[in-house]
Amino acid sequence: MSQFPLADRLASLPPYLFAEIDRIKAQVAARGVDIISLGIGDPDLPTPEFIIEAMAQAIRKPANHRYPSYEGMPAYREAVADWYKARFGASLDPKTEVVSLIGSKEGIAHFPLAFVNPGDLVLVCTPNYPVYNVATGFAGGEVRYLPLTDENDFLPDLDAVDEATWKRAKMIFLNYPNNPTAATANKEFFARLIAIAKAHDVIVVHDTAYTEIYYDEAKKPISILEVEGAKDVAIEFHSLSKTFNMTGWRVGMAVGNASLVAGLGKIKENVDSGLFQAVQEAGIAAMRHGDAATAELRTIYKQRRDTVIDALHKIGINCRVPDATFYIWSPVPAGYGTSAEFVSRLLQETGVVVTPGNGFGKPGEGYFRISLTVGTERLEEAVSRISKL
Ligand code: MLT
Repeated sequence: MSQFPLADRLASLPPYLFAEIDRIKAQVAARGVDIISLGIGDPDLPTPEFIIEAMAQAIRKPANHRYPSYEGMPAYREAVADWYKARFGASLDPKTEVVSLIGSKEGIAHFPLAFVNPGDLVLVCTPNYPVYNVATGFAGGEVRYLPLTDENDFLPDLDAVDEATWKRAKMIFLNYPNNPTAATANKEFFARLIAIAKAHDVIVVHDTAYTEIYYDEAKKPISILEVEGAKDVAIEFHSLSKTFNMTGWRVGMAVGNASLVAGLGKIKENVDSGLFQAVQEAGIAAMRHGDAATAELRTIYKQRRDTVIDALHKIGINCRVPDATFYIWSPVPAGYGTSAEFVSRLLQETGVVVTPGNGFGKPGEGYFRISLTVGTERLEEAVSRISKL
């Protein structure tokens, strides 16, 4: 059989981080090792029952079996606008400032195709969700990384970017609460970024998938749209995946500047046929009635976070205590080599899967990420195995 060479845009890509972790995990599991997977941020808890019930009813309606609209049902977009108003105090016009997505990954991956020409410069805060740089590359853009470091509380040093770079930049990708570092950003930071972006016509792409996973009401993560002037330059990607344990459902939204939302919509009209209406109806139920379920989820993650943090601190691994996300971003303990060496040894010798920090970009070297997406007992078992190693 012929072997067809991949197109250049794919041939130069490393394996997708989480697909690679799955592959190695399967190899170790095949040796009969009891694997505890803290690798991918995929909630273990089920989608709340009332959302499943909404889906069960919606799926029986013949009207939902036909093509959905490209931009999302009016009722879905209204639910998004109402949820944004209630949660962030941000006003959105559901007709022009909201588009439904088949998961926020899909929207993020398509967005550069709408606004980046070959050779355009795109700034990516890193360590980062790999889709930002890969999608930029697919559009022919040039990526320049802005490092997120511990000294800067994992926020980009905006002053370190020179005037010429801001002038050339078409777009900047950032994500708070941050995956993988779990850092959060405040209004002052966003206001500063918006002012710079406005001065240089830079599009701000903010991924907010983790705003609802926080541990202290006083430190609730914010949306960039809470900041004055954000809609002049910003588009925000959000998702129901982490908020309502719906990763498998593929349901999300992009909101913000109308021309940015419209540009993304135009790409989507040409590549997909919208989001299954029954899923949209389930999403509406989640956004309209899901607050209590998400609050319960936060209580569970808090217990998990405290269990792992206490155990890691006890054995001298001095990681930060996250205020948001279900991730713990920890330095590799001294004497255990690189991120990849430590993670590989951990997996081979203990069966515990964590994510190597360098998989998210160069400044992630020397770190590993724990995802709190298994129950407390298994987390206790995982940290006990880490301690023994
Ligand atoms: C992660 O583990 O970083 C996330 O689950 C990836 C995703 O949301 O697609």
